[in-house]
Amino acid sequence: MIRFPLSWTRLWFLENLPNGSKRLLSIIYQDMEGQIRKTFVSLFETEPILAFAPGRINLIGEHTDYQEGFVLPASIQFGIWSAVQKNQLPYCRLYSIDFEEEVTFDWQAFSPRKGHWSTYVMGFLAQLQQAGYKFEGFDMVIGGNIPVGAGLSSSAALSVSIGTALSALFELNLSKLSIARYSQNSEHQFAGVHCGIMDTYASAFGKAKTALLLDCRTNQHEEIALDLGEYSVLLVNSNVKHSLADSAYNQRRAACEESVELLKRSFPGIKTLRDLNISDLPQVQKILPESLFPKAKHVISECNRALVAAKALNEKNLGFFGKLLKESHQSLSKDFEVSCQELDFLAEKAWKFPGVLGARMMGGGFGGCTINLISKSKVAPFLEELSSSYTKEFGIIPSFISVEIGDGAHIF
Ligand code: GLA
Repeated sequence: MIRFPLSWTRLWFLENLPNGSKRLLSIIYQDMEGQIRKTFVSLFETEPILAFAPGRINLIGEHTDYQEGFVLPASIQFGIWSAVQKNQLPYCRLYSIDFEEEVTFDWQAFSPRKGHWSTYVMGFLAQLQQAGYKFEGFDMVIGGNIPVGAGLSSSAALSVSIGTALSALFELNLSKLSIARYSQNSEHQFAGVHCGIMDTYASAFGKAKTALLLDCRTNQHEEIALDLGEYSVLLVNSNVKHSLADSAYNQRRAACEESVELLKRSFPGIKTLRDLNISDLPQVQKILPESLFPKAKHVISECNRALVAAKALNEKNLGFFGKLLKESHQSLSKDFEVSCQELDFLAEKAWKFPGVLGARMMGGGFGGCTINLISKSKVAPFLEELSSSYTKEFGIIPSFISVEIGDGAHIF
């Protein structure tokens, strides 16, 4: 067997053959680290500092982070690399390998352009400025291999990678938590999504073969060893992204905050929905209007599921863990209403498939991936079955991403 360096990554596809049959195709992506370093040296004729930050999956604990609840993410082998060096110039020069585009800006007077990749560099610099850190002109090359639109938090990885590189370059000694927080703030201010801390935290703190049981109130985590034995984590990308995703995300967050205000009269002292338990649900239902109760119920029950799921992993009870994945999907779909027919289809098919212990939609919702816990021996027939039934139903070819849990952000 050929062994590839960790920065070499692998994607699985089902390829249609001319005779109508299909075969499993594995694509090995190139050595990103080497490519980024080489590009930097050829553009700027000096050796860079190189940083990496990964994307993330979330095993369970969805739409709980912004209510200070519990989540169980893990950092993956795909990520973003940033090569950086000081340039002694009044401006910064950025180059994106993925967009094949160069951007130059005055580092003393800049305004981030919403929706553009360079926003993440300027957004992070704006956070540094606000916090009183000093920096100067630099050159940067950015590139990555996170499958686009899959909901693997490529923007969090981008921002954490930039922050890790800049902290090393200007000897700022930023803690991982500061990098995660500045990245989250930058997303709030310049990308307009009021996301929680899960994505940037997982990218900064992740550890190989480990999930993080993160308490989004204390911003501290417990490491949960991911020992899946003969099972593996397989993502199925629906390859849809419904346009309401960002606005619906902000609306769900606002609905949770409204519920907390209404509940405070009967539950004095609560700060967020995280402060309530499953046993409080009957009373919560009496207080909240019909439009809000199911959403609050999701957050309260999902926080509990994340804790129970971490315990199941610790006890190597994968069957029970899989059951919780299914419950999580049902809650996200029926109560929180952030799924869509494509994700429901993929999850429901997976639940019926022999060898799948559990499956659910992952991330913000309205598209992106399902996460599946599947026996390694059943991956090939599963791909075949989902590929043909999903394409038949929606006319869209799904893609499959085999996930390995790698280390969080670091400098090489
Ligand atoms: C997105 C956000 C996260 C989190 C998830 C839902 O990924 O960026 O902060 O809220 O959705 O769990």
